[in-house]
Amino acid sequence: MDTVNSHLLDNLGGSALPLTLVRGEGARLWDDQGRVYWDFYGGHAVSLLGQGHPRWIAAMKAQAEQFTFFSTLADLPVRHQAADALCALTGMDVAFFVNSGAEANEAALKMARKITGRPVIIALEGGFHGRTMGAVGVTWHYRDQHAPAHGIVRHVPMGDTAALVAALDDQVAGMIAEPVQGIAGVVLPPDGWLAEAAALVRAAGGLFIADEIQSGMGRGGYPLVSRHLGVSPDLATVGKGLGGGFPVAATLMTRAVADTVRPGEHGTTFGGAPMACAAVVNTLQILEDEDLIARGRALGLAMHQALSAVPGVETVRGEGVLIGVALDRPAKPVANALMGLGFIVGTASDPKVLRLSPPMNTPYEAVDALAAALKELL
Ligand SMILES: Cc1ncc(COP(=O)(O)O)c(C=O)c1O
Repeated sequence: MDTVNSHLLDNLGGSALPLTLVRGEGARLWDDQGRVYWDFYGGHAVSLLGQGHPRWIAAMKAQAEQFTFFSTLADLPVRHQAADALCALTGMDVAFFVNSGAEANEAALKMARKITGRPVIIALEGGFHGRTMGAVGVTWHYRDQHAPAHGIVRHVPMGDTAALVAALDDQVAGMIAEPVQGIAGVVLPPDGWLAEAAALVRAAGGLFIADEIQSGMGRGGYPLVSRHLGVSPDLATVGKGLGGGFPVAATLMTRAVADTVRPGEHGTTFGGAPMACAAVVNTLQILEDEDLIARGRALGLAMHQALSAVPGVETVRGEGVLIGVALDRPAKPVANALMGLGFIVGTASDPKVLRLSPPMNTPYEAVDALAAALKELL
C-alpha cells in the first residue's frame, strides 16, 4: 500500500517507516506484504504487553459493552480503581488522567507555576517533554520554535551542579527532568545527581517534576525510575504504555500539591474516560500477575549481554526495556537495514544510537536473532 495519503498530514516525511502494518501478535508485527517483524520499538515505546494481549482485549471489550463514555463530571467506579492502582504502584498520592504525555506535562508545569507563583521552569539540555506549547518550551530541541509563548525556561546540562545552582533563584517554579532521557538516546544522569538536583530545586522553593512518560510504568525497569534513583517527585508524569496501547496518560502528584488545586482550575473532556481507566486497571493488573516489570529487567540484561558482544557496538546502556545501543557509525542506515531483516528498532537524537523499547514479554530468541542480525550488518 502507498504509505502517503494526501488527506493525512505528512508530519514525519522521510522518517516514517516505509511499511504498512496490518496485524500484530505479542512482540511480532505483520505488514501488508506478509512480512513479519520483531518489534523492538513498541510504536514510540508504548507497547509493554505486546499486541493483542487476550486479557486486555477481553477487559476492553467488557468495558465497551458495559459503559463507553462519560466525562469526569460524573463519578465512575473504574476511575477510582485506576487511580488507586496507579498510586499504589508508583507511591504517588493523587492522579489526574489525561490523554497524552504532553498534556500530562502541561498540567504539571501549570501546577508548579501556580503553586509557587513563580514563572521560571528549569529543564535539562537534551530533554524531551512533548509538542504542546508548554512542553515544547522545556524540550531542548524545540526550545526556540515558539518562544516566548511557553514562558520562561532555563536549560542546564545534565550532571552540571554549578549550572543548576546558577540557574536557581526566587523566580524558579520547578524543574522538569526525565530520569532517563529516552529520545536523547537513553542517557542516564551521573550517579546520585538527580537526587542532588531535586534537593537543590526544593531548597530554592521549587517543585521537582519527574517526566516518566517514557521511563515509567516499568519500561526503565521500575514503576518510576526517579524513585529508584532516590527522588520523591512532587509531580510525576506517566503515559505511553500505561494503557497497554490505549491512549492515556496521567499527572501524578503528592497530596500537598493536590490540595492546592482549586475546583475549575484544570479540566479535560476525555481524561479519565471509562475505556482509558479500564485500560489502566487491566494493564497494571497484567503487569503484576505476569511479573512483567521483573521480566523486562531480565530481558534488558539479556539485551545488554547479547548486543554488547557485537563488534561495532560501542556501549549498551539503560535498564529494563529502554535500551540505547551506541554504534561506531550512524544508526539510521543500520535501523533501515535491520528492517529489511525483520526487526523494527528506534533511533534517537544522538545520530549513532539505536533506541530499543520492545514489549516486556518479548521472547529471548528475538534478542538472539537481533544480535545475530546486527552482527551480520556491522
Ligand atoms: C519523556 C517524554 N515526555 C513526553 C512525551 C510526550 O508524550 P506524547 O507524545 O504522548 O504527548 C514523550 C514522547 O515521546 C516522552 O518521551
